[in-house]
Amino acid sequence: MPTLLILPGDGIGPEVMAEVRKIIDWFGAKRGMAFDVSEDLVGGAAYDAHGTPLHDDTMAKAQEADAVLLGAVGGPTYDTLDFSVKPERGLLRLRKEMDLFANLRPAQCFDALADFSSLKKEVVAGLDIMIVRELTSGVYFGEPRGIVTEGNERVGINTQRYTEGEIARVARSAFELAKRRSNKVCSMEKANVMESGILWRDVVSEVHQAEYPEVELSHMYADAGAMQLTRWPKQFDVIVTDNLFGDLLSDLAAMLTGSLGMLPSASLGAPMETGRPKALYEPVHGSAPDIAGQGKANPIACILSFAMALRYSFDAGAEADRLESAVEQVLAGGLRTADLLGEDGATPVSTSEMGDAVVAALEASL
Ligand code: IPM
Ligand code: MG
Repeated sequence: MPTLLILPGDGIGPEVMAEVRKIIDWFGAKRGMAFDVSEDLVGGAAYDAHGTPLHDDTMAKAQEADAVLLGAVGGPTYDTLDFSVKPERGLLRLRKEMDLFANLRPAQCFDALADFSSLKKEVVAGLDIMIVRELTSGVYFGEPRGIVTEGNERVGINTQRYTEGEIARVARSAFELAKRRSNKVCSMEKANVMESGILWRDVVSEVHQAEYPEVELSHMYADAGAMQLTRWPKQFDVIVTDNLFGDLLSDLAAMLTGSLGMLPSASLGAPMETGRPKALYEPVHGSAPDIAGQGKANPIACILSFAMALRYSFDAGAEADRLESAVEQVLAGGLRTADLLGEDGATPVSTSEMGDAVVAALEASL
Protein backbone atom coordinates (compact mmCIF):
# COMPACT_ATOMS: atom_id res chain seq x y z
CA MET A 1 0.00 0.00 0.00
CA PRO A 2 1.44 3.43 -0.88
CA THR A 3 2.28 5.57 2.13
CA LEU A 4 1.05 9.10 2.59
CA LEU A 5 2.43 11.32 5.35
CA ILE A 6 0.06 14.13 6.31
CA LEU A 7 1.44 17.22 8.02
CA PRO A 8 -1.49 19.57 8.71
CA GLY A 9 0.70 22.21 10.39
CA ASP A 10 -0.68 25.50 11.71
CA GLY A 11 -3.56 27.93 11.32
CA ILE A 12 -6.12 26.71 8.79
CA GLY A 13 -3.85 23.75 7.90
CA PRO A 14 -5.66 21.22 10.13
CA GLU A 15 -9.14 22.34 8.95
CA VAL A 16 -8.40 22.10 5.26
CA MET A 17 -6.54 18.83 5.76
CA ALA A 18 -9.59 17.33 7.50
CA GLU A 19 -11.46 17.83 4.21
CA VAL A 20 -8.67 16.17 2.24
CA ARG A 21 -8.94 13.18 4.58
CA LYS A 22 -12.57 12.79 3.42
CA ILE A 23 -11.39 12.76 -0.18
CA ILE A 24 -8.61 10.26 0.55
CA ASP A 25 -11.11 8.00 2.33
CA TRP A 26 -13.46 8.25 -0.63
CA PHE A 27 -10.75 7.13 -3.08
CA GLY A 28 -9.95 4.25 -0.75
CA ALA A 29 -13.55 3.13 -0.41
CA LYS A 30 -14.82 3.79 -3.93
CA ARG A 31 -11.83 3.58 -6.26
CA GLY A 32 -9.84 0.83 -4.59
CA MET A 33 -6.96 3.24 -3.97
CA ALA A 34 -6.18 2.67 -0.33
CA PHE A 35 -3.32 4.64 1.20
CA ASP A 36 -1.42 3.93 4.36
CA VAL A 37 -1.94 7.36 5.93
CA SER A 38 -0.04 8.67 8.93
CA GLU A 39 -0.11 12.11 10.45
CA ASP A 40 2.56 14.17 12.19
CA LEU A 41 3.47 17.69 13.25
CA VAL A 42 5.24 20.47 11.39
CA GLY A 43 5.81 24.19 11.93
CA GLY A 44 4.51 25.90 15.04
CA ALA A 45 2.60 22.78 16.06
CA ALA A 46 5.85 20.81 16.09
CA TYR A 47 7.61 23.62 17.92
CA ASP A 48 4.94 23.59 20.64
CA ALA A 49 5.33 19.84 21.09
CA HIS A 50 9.07 19.36 20.58
CA GLY A 51 10.76 22.78 20.57
CA THR A 52 11.64 22.35 16.88
CA PRO A 53 9.56 23.07 13.75
CA LEU A 54 10.40 19.61 12.39
CA HIS A 55 11.36 16.67 14.59
CA ASP A 56 14.06 14.34 13.21
CA ASP A 57 11.60 11.42 13.39
CA THR A 58 9.16 13.36 11.20
CA MET A 59 11.95 14.18 8.77
CA ALA A 60 12.80 10.46 8.57
CA LYS A 61 9.14 9.55 7.97
CA ALA A 62 8.95 12.12 5.19
CA GLN A 63 12.01 10.59 3.51
CA GLU A 64 10.32 7.18 3.59
CA ALA A 65 6.83 8.23 2.49
CA ASP A 66 5.65 7.86 -1.08
CA ALA A 67 4.21 11.34 -0.78
CA VAL A 68 3.91 14.06 1.83
CA LEU A 69 0.87 16.31 2.04
CA LEU A 70 1.35 19.54 3.99
CA GLY A 71 -1.27 22.07 5.14
CA ALA A 72 0.40 25.33 6.13
CA VAL A 73 2.90 26.64 8.64
CA GLY A 74 3.30 29.80 10.68
CA GLY A 75 1.32 32.19 12.82
CA PRO A 76 1.67 35.35 14.90
CA THR A 77 2.49 33.47 18.13
CA TYR A 78 5.70 32.26 16.50
CA ASP A 79 6.81 35.61 15.03
CA THR A 80 9.14 36.37 17.92
CA LEU A 81 10.87 32.97 17.90
CA ASP A 82 14.51 32.71 16.97
CA PHE A 83 14.96 32.43 13.18
CA SER A 84 16.37 28.89 13.51
CA VAL A 85 13.14 27.51 15.01
CA LYS A 86 10.56 29.54 13.12
CA PRO A 87 7.76 27.41 11.61
CA GLU A 88 8.97 28.19 8.05
CA ARG A 89 12.29 26.51 8.85
CA GLY A 90 10.43 23.19 9.14
CA LEU A 91 9.11 23.52 5.62
CA LEU A 92 12.46 24.67 4.24
CA ARG A 93 14.17 21.68 5.89
CA LEU A 94 11.71 19.28 4.26
CA ARG A 95 12.32 20.85 0.85
CA LYS A 96 16.09 20.85 1.25
CA GLU A 97 16.65 17.41 2.79
CA MET A 98 14.20 15.69 0.45
CA ASP A 99 15.95 17.59 -2.36
CA LEU A 100 12.64 18.75 -3.83
CA PHE A 101 14.16 20.93 -6.50
CA ALA A 102 11.20 21.34 -8.85
CA ASN A 103 8.24 23.24 -7.48
CA LEU A 104 5.22 23.08 -9.77
CA ARG A 105 2.75 25.89 -9.23
CA PRO A 106 -0.16 25.90 -11.63
CA ALA A 107 -2.18 29.08 -12.07
CA GLN A 108 -5.46 28.04 -13.51
CA CYS A 109 -8.55 30.19 -13.79
CA PHE A 110 -11.76 28.34 -13.06
CA ASP A 111 -14.54 29.54 -15.37
CA ALA A 112 -16.89 30.02 -12.47
CA LEU A 113 -14.42 32.42 -10.86
CA ALA A 114 -13.18 34.47 -13.80
CA ASP A 115 -15.13 37.49 -12.54
CA PHE A 116 -13.26 37.29 -9.30
CA SER A 117 -9.88 38.27 -10.71
CA SER A 118 -8.65 41.80 -10.26
CA LEU A 119 -7.96 41.75 -14.01
CA LYS A 120 -10.49 41.94 -16.84
CA LYS A 121 -12.31 38.70 -17.51
CA GLU A 122 -10.98 38.32 -21.07
CA VAL A 123 -7.42 38.51 -19.75
CA VAL A 124 -7.83 35.61 -17.32
CA ALA A 125 -10.69 33.41 -18.57
CA GLY A 126 -9.29 30.03 -19.53
CA LEU A 127 -5.86 30.80 -18.13
CA ASP A 128 -3.81 27.68 -17.45
CA ILE A 129 -0.11 28.19 -16.88
CA MET A 130 2.48 26.35 -14.83
CA ILE A 131 5.31 28.00 -12.96
CA VAL A 132 8.26 25.72 -12.27
CA ARG A 133 10.20 27.28 -9.42
CA GLU A 134 13.64 26.00 -8.43
CA LEU A 135 13.19 25.20 -4.76
CA THR A 136 16.37 24.00 -3.07
CA SER A 137 19.03 26.51 -4.00
CA GLY A 138 19.55 30.15 -4.94
CA VAL A 139 19.40 32.98 -2.46
CA TYR A 140 17.23 30.97 -0.05
CA PHE A 141 20.14 28.68 0.76
CA GLY A 142 23.33 30.30 -0.61
CA GLU A 143 26.33 30.89 1.65
CA PRO A 144 27.62 33.14 3.04
CA ARG A 145 24.54 34.43 4.77
CA GLY A 146 23.81 36.18 8.02
CA ILE A 147 23.80 39.51 9.78
CA VAL A 148 27.29 40.69 10.63
CA THR A 149 28.73 43.86 12.09
CA GLU A 150 31.05 45.93 9.95
CA GLY A 151 32.49 48.97 11.64
CA ASN A 152 29.61 50.48 13.54
CA GLU A 153 26.73 49.11 11.53
CA ARG A 154 25.08 45.77 10.80
CA VAL A 155 25.10 44.22 7.35
CA GLY A 156 22.55 41.67 6.13
CA ILE A 157 24.00 39.12 3.71
CA ASN A 158 22.45 36.51 1.42
CA THR A 159 24.04 34.87 -1.55
CA GLN A 160 22.50 33.93 -4.88
CA ARG A 161 24.32 30.80 -6.01
CA TYR A 162 23.44 28.28 -8.70
CA THR A 163 25.45 25.38 -10.06
CA GLU A 164 25.03 24.20 -13.65
CA GLY A 165 23.64 20.92 -12.38
CA GLU A 166 20.99 22.66 -10.29
CA ILE A 167 19.86 24.73 -13.26
CA ALA A 168 19.92 21.83 -15.71
CA ARG A 169 17.77 19.51 -13.61
CA VAL A 170 14.99 22.05 -13.03
CA ALA A 171 15.14 23.01 -16.71
CA ARG A 172 14.57 19.34 -17.59
CA SER A 173 11.53 19.22 -15.30
CA ALA A 174 10.11 22.25 -17.11
CA PHE A 175 10.73 20.82 -20.59
CA GLU A 176 9.25 17.46 -19.61
CA LEU A 177 6.12 19.18 -18.33
CA ALA A 178 5.87 21.35 -21.43
CA LYS A 179 5.89 18.25 -23.63
CA ARG A 180 2.71 17.14 -21.85
CA ARG A 181 1.15 20.61 -22.19
CA SER A 182 1.53 23.20 -24.97
CA ASN A 183 5.19 22.52 -25.66
CA LYS A 184 6.34 25.99 -24.68
CA VAL A 185 8.78 27.12 -21.99
CA CYS A 186 9.70 30.66 -20.98
CA SER A 187 12.75 30.94 -18.72
CA MET A 188 13.01 34.01 -16.47
CA GLU A 189 16.08 35.48 -14.76
CA LYS A 190 17.97 38.76 -14.58
CA ALA A 191 20.84 38.01 -16.95
CA ASN A 192 21.18 41.77 -17.46
CA VAL A 193 22.41 42.31 -13.91
CA MET A 194 23.28 38.94 -12.33
CA GLU A 195 25.99 36.43 -13.22
CA SER A 196 23.79 33.67 -11.85
CA GLY A 197 21.22 34.88 -14.39
CA ILE A 198 23.73 34.67 -17.26
CA LEU A 199 24.58 31.10 -16.28
CA TRP A 200 20.88 30.27 -15.87
CA ARG A 201 20.14 31.45 -19.42
CA ASP A 202 23.14 29.57 -20.85
CA VAL A 203 22.38 26.29 -19.14
CA VAL A 204 18.66 26.35 -19.97
CA SER A 205 19.59 26.98 -23.62
CA GLU A 206 22.14 24.15 -23.60
CA VAL A 207 19.68 21.63 -22.13
CA HIS A 208 17.12 22.81 -24.66
CA GLN A 209 19.41 22.38 -27.66
CA ALA A 210 20.81 19.05 -26.58
CA GLU A 211 17.70 17.36 -25.22
CA TYR A 212 14.49 19.22 -26.07
CA PRO A 213 14.93 21.04 -29.39
CA GLU A 214 11.28 20.32 -30.24
CA VAL A 215 10.04 22.45 -27.33
CA GLU A 216 9.65 26.18 -28.00
CA LEU A 217 11.94 28.11 -25.63
CA SER A 218 12.01 31.83 -24.90
CA HIS A 219 13.86 33.90 -22.29
CA MET A 220 12.65 36.95 -20.42
CA TYR A 221 14.04 39.17 -17.71
CA ALA A 222 12.06 38.44 -14.58
CA ASP A 223 10.84 42.03 -14.15
CA ALA A 224 9.53 42.10 -17.71
CA GLY A 225 8.05 38.68 -17.01
CA ALA A 226 6.09 40.09 -14.08
CA MET A 227 4.80 42.85 -16.32
CA GLN A 228 3.84 40.42 -19.12
CA LEU A 229 2.12 38.15 -16.62
CA THR A 230 -0.28 40.92 -15.68
CA ARG A 231 -0.60 42.29 -19.23
CA TRP A 232 -1.41 39.08 -21.11
CA PRO A 233 -0.76 35.94 -19.05
CA LYS A 234 -2.16 33.61 -21.69
CA GLN A 235 1.02 34.09 -23.77
CA PHE A 236 2.73 31.67 -21.34
CA ASP A 237 2.51 27.93 -20.82
CA VAL A 238 5.39 26.73 -18.62
CA ILE A 239 7.58 29.32 -16.90
CA VAL A 240 10.83 28.15 -15.32
CA THR A 241 12.65 30.39 -12.88
CA ASP A 242 14.80 30.48 -9.77
CA ASN A 243 13.78 30.20 -6.14
CA LEU A 244 13.23 33.86 -5.26
CA PHE A 245 11.76 35.03 -8.58
CA GLY A 246 9.58 31.93 -8.51
CA ASP A 247 8.32 32.85 -5.05
CA LEU A 248 7.23 36.28 -6.29
CA LEU A 249 5.98 35.34 -9.73
CA SER A 250 3.95 32.42 -8.45
CA ASP A 251 2.07 34.62 -5.98
CA LEU A 252 1.42 37.08 -8.77
CA ALA A 253 0.22 34.35 -11.12
CA ALA A 254 -1.92 32.84 -8.38
CA MET A 255 -3.76 36.08 -7.73
CA LEU A 256 -4.52 36.49 -11.45
CA THR A 257 -6.86 33.55 -11.10
CA GLY A 258 -9.01 35.17 -8.45
CA SER A 259 -8.00 33.47 -5.26
CA LEU A 260 -4.86 32.24 -3.67
CA GLY A 261 -7.15 29.88 -1.77
CA MET A 262 -7.63 27.78 -4.90
CA LEU A 263 -4.14 26.84 -5.93
CA PRO A 264 -2.19 23.67 -5.22
CA SER A 265 1.48 22.95 -5.64
CA ALA A 266 3.80 19.99 -6.01
CA SER A 267 7.46 19.89 -5.02
CA LEU A 268 9.26 17.07 -6.74
CA GLY A 269 12.70 15.56 -6.32
CA ALA A 270 14.60 12.86 -8.11
CA PRO A 271 12.91 9.52 -8.82
CA MET A 272 13.35 6.90 -6.08
CA GLU A 273 13.87 3.17 -6.66
CA THR A 274 10.09 2.86 -7.00
CA GLY A 275 10.24 5.18 -10.01
CA ARG A 276 8.24 7.75 -8.03
CA PRO A 277 9.86 11.09 -7.38
CA LYS A 278 10.22 12.20 -3.79
CA ALA A 279 7.32 14.56 -3.41
CA LEU A 280 5.62 17.05 -1.16
CA TYR A 281 2.25 18.59 -2.01
CA GLU A 282 0.91 21.73 -0.42
CA PRO A 283 -1.52 24.56 -1.09
CA VAL A 284 0.08 27.80 -2.24
CA HIS A 285 -1.80 29.75 0.43
CA GLY A 286 -0.47 30.21 3.95
CA SER A 287 -1.82 29.44 7.40
CA ALA A 288 -4.29 32.40 7.47
CA PRO A 289 -4.24 32.69 11.28
CA ASP A 290 -6.89 35.44 11.19
CA ILE A 291 -9.58 32.97 10.10
CA ALA A 292 -8.19 29.78 11.64
CA GLY A 293 -10.58 27.57 13.57
CA GLN A 294 -13.71 29.31 12.28
CA GLY A 295 -14.68 26.99 9.46
CA LYS A 296 -14.16 29.80 6.93
CA ALA A 297 -11.12 28.46 5.09
CA ASN A 298 -11.32 27.25 1.51
CA PRO A 299 -10.14 23.62 1.37
CA ILE A 300 -9.91 23.54 -2.44
CA ALA A 301 -6.20 24.31 -2.76
CA CYS A 302 -5.37 21.48 -0.40
CA ILE A 303 -7.83 19.13 -2.14
CA LEU A 304 -6.27 20.01 -5.51
CA SER A 305 -2.83 19.36 -4.01
CA PHE A 306 -3.98 15.81 -3.37
CA ALA A 307 -5.10 15.67 -7.02
CA MET A 308 -1.54 16.59 -7.99
CA ALA A 309 -0.30 13.77 -5.74
CA LEU A 310 -2.57 11.34 -7.58
CA ARG A 311 -1.13 12.56 -10.89
CA TYR A 312 2.58 12.88 -10.11
CA SER A 313 3.18 10.34 -7.33
CA PHE A 314 0.60 7.65 -7.90
CA ASP A 315 0.33 7.51 -11.66
CA ALA A 316 -3.41 8.07 -11.42
CA GLY A 317 -3.92 10.91 -13.88
CA ALA A 318 -7.48 9.86 -14.67
CA GLU A 319 -8.39 9.93 -10.97
CA ALA A 320 -6.73 13.34 -10.64
CA ASP A 321 -8.90 14.53 -13.55
CA ARG A 322 -11.94 13.12 -11.77
CA LEU A 323 -11.14 15.07 -8.61
CA GLU A 324 -10.40 18.29 -10.50
CA SER A 325 -13.68 18.04 -12.41
CA ALA A 326 -15.53 17.41 -9.15
CA VAL A 327 -14.10 20.68 -7.80
CA GLU A 328 -15.02 22.50 -10.99
CA GLN A 329 -18.58 21.20 -10.82
CA VAL A 330 -19.01 22.29 -7.24
CA LEU A 331 -17.85 25.80 -8.18
CA ALA A 332 -20.00 25.86 -11.30
CA GLY A 333 -22.93 24.96 -9.05
CA GLY A 334 -22.37 28.21 -7.19
CA LEU A 335 -20.92 26.96 -3.91
CA ARG A 336 -18.47 29.48 -2.42
CA THR A 337 -16.39 29.71 0.70
CA ALA A 338 -16.01 33.18 2.18
CA ASP A 339 -12.80 34.00 0.29
CA LEU A 340 -14.63 33.63 -3.03
CA LEU A 341 -17.46 36.01 -2.30
CA GLY A 342 -17.85 39.54 -3.51
CA GLU A 343 -19.94 42.13 -1.73
CA ASP A 344 -23.24 40.78 -2.99
CA GLY A 345 -24.23 39.34 0.38
CA ALA A 346 -24.45 35.71 -0.67
CA THR A 347 -24.05 33.21 2.14
CA PRO A 348 -20.72 31.40 2.14
CA VAL A 349 -20.46 27.69 2.89
CA SER A 350 -18.15 26.40 5.57
CA THR A 351 -14.90 24.54 5.06
CA SER A 352 -16.53 21.20 5.78
CA GLU A 353 -19.59 21.92 3.61
CA MET A 354 -17.23 22.57 0.72
CA GLY A 355 -15.38 19.30 1.40
CA ASP A 356 -18.66 17.38 1.60
CA ALA A 357 -19.81 18.91 -1.68
CA VAL A 358 -16.64 17.74 -3.43
CA VAL A 359 -17.17 14.23 -2.06
CA ALA A 360 -20.76 14.35 -3.31
CA ALA A 361 -19.56 15.42 -6.76
CA LEU A 362 -17.05 12.57 -6.76
CA GLU A 363 -19.81 10.17 -5.84
CA ALA A 364 -21.91 11.52 -8.71
CA SER A 365 -19.01 10.93 -11.10
CA LEU A 366 -19.25 7.14 -10.73
C1 IPM B 1 6.10 29.80 -0.43
C2 IPM B 1 6.28 30.56 0.87
C3 IPM B 1 7.59 30.07 1.49
C4 IPM B 1 8.71 30.52 0.60
C5 IPM B 1 7.81 30.50 2.95
C6 IPM B 1 6.65 30.11 3.85
C7 IPM B 1 9.09 29.93 3.48
O1 IPM B 1 6.25 31.92 0.62
O2 IPM B 1 6.06 28.56 -0.37
O3 IPM B 1 5.98 30.44 -1.46
O4 IPM B 1 9.15 31.69 0.66
O5 IPM B 1 9.17 29.69 -0.19
MG1 MG C 1 5.72 32.44 -1.38
